[in-house]
Amino acid sequence: MADHIIVTEEDATRVITLRRPQKKNAITHAMYQDMSEAIDTAQNNPDIRCMIITGGSGVFTAGNDIEDFLSISQSREEHQPSNAIKFLYSLAHNTKPLIAAVDGIAIGIGTTMLFHCDYVLASSTATFSTPFIHLGLVPEGASSLLMPRTMGYQRAFAALVMGRTISAEDARIAGFVNAVVAPGHTEQEARKVAREIASLPAEAVAIARRLVKTPPEDVVRRIDHEAHLFGERMRSTEAMAAFQSFVTRKPA
Ligand code: COA
Repeated sequence: MADHIIVTEEDATRVITLRRPQKKNAITHAMYQDMSEAIDTAQNNPDIRCMIITGGSGVFTAGNDIEDFLSISQSREEHQPSNAIKFLYSLAHNTKPLIAAVDGIAIGIGTTMLFHCDYVLASSTATFSTPFIHLGLVPEGASSLLMPRTMGYQRAFAALVMGRTISAEDARIAGFVNAVVAPGHTEQEARKVAREIASLPAEAVAIARRLVKTPPEDVVRRIDHEAHLFGERMRSTEAMAAFQSFVTRKPA
């Protein structure tokens, strides 16, 4: 199978790259598993001081693979914790500073994962959207907790419930993007930020980060609560119709 997640290391930084450009980096079960593994195996490795997650140039990710959504919604098997949930647990328990480099679209989990990151760089053409409701679904990834905390209730409502798209500049104003850079430069800037973090005293960084961040147990509790509702919604008539309509749509 093609390798859609590339993991590399340089300057004490692990770089996780989504590389499925022909599908706008939509994330499959296998990709979630590879991303979790890349995060989990960094935890006890003192040589890794920082991590970067990137989609490369032009696109971050179009979110969860909708064909995977469709097959789960049609399956008769009891709902098991999916690789997506395991990936969210990996993010919640991650102790290493994580930088996101977003160049282009960040849809669904492509946006919600950013609220687990410590520093987010966006290109001026980046856009953020969480169209869960349009798909008959509900927010995931503890976004119902972390988004209103970061950006305020009304902005979170417009994004999470109304599915409004947020521009890079509005994301910076809303507080979940640190800096907006020229298209094609997010990864380079992320590497600079990683070097800056890696040069700081590692133990003090870890302790300070823990103090500043929402406690992992609160995050996991919300991930689980949302996942329960999300699992029910996956099998709803509204969601199944939305998945079918995406996979059978005609090119514009
Ligand atoms: N799951 C599966 N495949 C996806 C995908 C997704 N989330 N997003 C894009 N793709 C695929 C398309 O099916 C298409 O595949 P094909 O060439 O084999 O037909 C390919 O990626 C390119 O997408 P396309 O729609 O042709 O490009 P576009 O530039 O016109 O639109 C998007 C890009 C991302 C705006 C559009 O594809 C989209 O809305 N995707 C769904 C996003 C979404 O709702 N994600 C789930 C959030 S919870």
